[in-house]
Amino acid sequence: MGSADRFVRQLGLPAIVEIGAGTGMFCSAMARWLAPARVVGIDPSLPMLSQARRINAHPTVSYVAGTAEAVPTGTGLFDLALLSRVIHHLPERAGAARELSRVLRSGGTTVIRTTFQERLDALLYDYWPRLRELDKQRFPSRDEVLADFTGAGFTVRTVTSFAQPVSASLRQYHTRVSSRPQSKFSQITPEEFHDGLGRLEADAQAEPRAHPLAVVERYDLAVLTAP
Ligand SMILES: C[S@@+](CC[C@H](N)C(=O)[O-])C[C@H]1O[C@@H](n2cnc3c(N)ncnc32)[C@H](O)[C@@H]1O
Repeated sequence: MGSADRFVRQLGLPAIVEIGAGTGMFCSAMARWLAPARVVGIDPSLPMLSQARRINAHPTVSYVAGTAEAVPTGTGLFDLALLSRVIHHLPERAGAARELSRVLRSGGTTVIRTTFQERLDALLYDYWPRLRELDKQRFPSRDEVLADFTGAGFTVRTVTSFAQPVSASLRQYHTRVSSRPQSKFSQITPEEFHDGLGRLEADAQAEPRAHPLAVVERYDLAVLTAP
């Protein structure tokens, strides 16, 4: 039995795995919200894992190197698996779905948080339209994701869509994008980035202060039951 398995099996507590945990924000949040659950955060990136261990350490969270296609834990171990903003990174989604059906107990839950291809309507794309084209190639559709999971024996419980607030105004959004550009901007040229940023800045300056435009991002949440 591996150390992650021993950690999860302690006291028979509810067990959660986050696939593609990144810097561990959701792992530590779930450990707090769902105490006394055990949480294992899996990610292939060693720099991400060391940052997670540093900024999102928690006594009931363990961070382990691995991928969705090869989860380095035993079988039937987890009650809940979370995949947040990771489904579009997976090179072999159907294989990952089969692997999740292995590590979850029968009747366990998988939650996929993403933006399905057909709902890529973020404000960002108004200023950087080429990012929409690139994201359309990267993000799978609802039907593609559900087909891979039902193909692995999962049943679909719910699929919902919601808008998550990002900034209270266009001005705030402009400050946010210019000070902390998202990694997706590395796909476009510096000229394209500055061109879009200039148009965003002009719109932000013209925004009536009494009527700011709240900026939201769309997320889809698919909840599935393991076979
Ligand atoms: C956008 S981050 C999401 C982090 C976190 N889940 C969140 O929602 O804030 C995507 C993460 O997926 C990881 N990732 C990439 N390929 C993966 C794979 N094949 N299996 C599991 N994780 C993967 C990356 O290393 C990265 O940390």
